[in-house]
Amino acid sequence: MAKNFLANLRTNSLIRDERIFMANIIVIGMQWGDEGKGKIIDLLTEFAQVVVRFQGGNNAGHTVVVGQQKVILHLIPSGALYPQKSCVIGNGVVVDPQVLLAEVDELQKLGYFRADDQLLLSEDAHLIMPYHRRIDVARERMKGEGKIGTTGRGIGPAYEDKVAREGIRVGDLVREKLFRKKLEARLAVKNHYLETCLHEKGFDLEEIFQEYSGYGERLKKYVSDISVFIDEQIREGRHILLEGAQGTHLDIDHGTYPFVTSSNTVAGGACTGAGIGPTKITEVIGVSKAYTTRVGGGPFPTELTDEVGERIRERGKEFGATTGRPRRCGWLDIPLLLDAIRLNGLTGIALTKMDVLSEFDAIKICTAYQFRNKRYTRVPSAVEDLEECEPLYEEIPGWKQELRDIRHFRDLPPKAQAYVRRVEELTATEVMVVSVGERREETILRRNPFDRGSRPPQKA
Ligand code: GDP
Ligand code: IMO
Ligand code: MG
Repeated sequence: MAKNFLANLRTNSLIRDERIFMANIIVIGMQWGDEGKGKIIDLLTEFAQVVVRFQGGNNAGHTVVVGQQKVILHLIPSGALYPQKSCVIGNGVVVDPQVLLAEVDELQKLGYFRADDQLLLSEDAHLIMPYHRRIDVARERMKGEGKIGTTGRGIGPAYEDKVAREGIRVGDLVREKLFRKKLEARLAVKNHYLETCLHEKGFDLEEIFQEYSGYGERLKKYVSDISVFIDEQIREGRHILLEGAQGTHLDIDHGTYPFVTSSNTVAGGACTGAGIGPTKITEVIGVSKAYTTRVGGGPFPTELTDEVGERIRERGKEFGATTGRPRRCGWLDIPLLLDAIRLNGLTGIALTKMDVLSEFDAIKICTAYQFRNKRYTRVPSAVEDLEECEPLYEEIPGWKQELRDIRHFRDLPPKAQAYVRRVEELTATEVMVVSVGERREETILRRNPFDRGSRPPQKA
């Protein structure tokens, strides 16, 4: 006991040793998802050794564009396009095994994921079962007008089962007898609910058992205790990148409830969803578009339903990476970002899609909301109040110049530089990355968080 304690003390102080550079970085979305997290993770993976997804499921669609290749990842971390980088699916993720295996196959077909040990799947991650998907879709249909606009992937019902302590986990799937026992018990309840409450068809035990046993057989080789793996990697001096899905305002606790997803999308979720202690995190970077988008229902104060919104959608190709739905588009919303900075303890911002704003003569930024004759710079908790908020705008002159070939901040047109500086002023947060195109190289990296000596600015 005493020996273990001393050994632990020694290794813990080792990783705190200034001479060993520890960089374990969380990247999350600051808005309502689709901020370009996939692109930023892919970019930063060059400097890390391990990339971890810690929440959400295949409601996520993270786009990575390298050379002529465009890959949309739903479950596998966006570091997958580098050989030899470990890709981890954490315990906080809900896993649809069919989708995961299809993604593995697709990546292998493209020449990635040659080594089996590149993918690690937490044994504690919960499974999305066919009944979760059917319940998700049926409940949305019953809600009619007031529907959330979910992705229909069974995310909410899978997280419900997890919290109700009725979920089936990856570790159960690879133990055939146990899996059968659990499935039989759950299916009795789920079929009853589907048939009597939702007026849907139930499922056949044998069919699901056969299908899922096959998935279990194929997934077995990836299953491990990922908390232990990540800890070992940190102790060996490797850098960890934790990849958020969705965005801060879709968080189950802090988002625009009930128009949210069913997991904690904020940075705090990275620690629980990957089994990593908060003291091991060295930076948190928030990704925000230079404007705002949202898919599905819920309030959106700066939404543009006019021709300007249409132009943003077209130029920004704003169609969902998972469902193909057109994304709702609007101007940048500072109160959303200020909340994200507080909720995530952000040390920097990656501002994406600056190139999309190039065609506008004037660009608006919402600096605050007007709510019942008062000015607010934060998002009210109740969506009913947020619906009533009117955006207060300031106008910034457009730069009217293509940005895609620019690689240094100093080479940006002065008006584009002014836009970025204004965002920094309004948020009191450093813009570390400016993204000017979808490709990996179409990026201005102003500060690399993985550089030795790179330290987030000290805050009061
Ligand atoms: P994620 O869910 O946050 O990873 O974002 P998505 O992949 O769903 O959506 C972002 C979209 O914008 C993708 O199609 C990206 O390829 C694209 N994208 C990312 N950064 C930029 C950028 O700076 N400029 C342009 N034009 N597209 C970008
Ligand atoms: P990435 O990781 C944008 C939205 C859905 C819906 C709500 C709840 O690509 O940024 P769910 O299926 O999670 O129960 O749906 O959340 N949503 C997303 N919107 N990007 C995402 O992921 C999203 N994942 C879920 O549109 O409004
Ligand atoms: Mg997306």
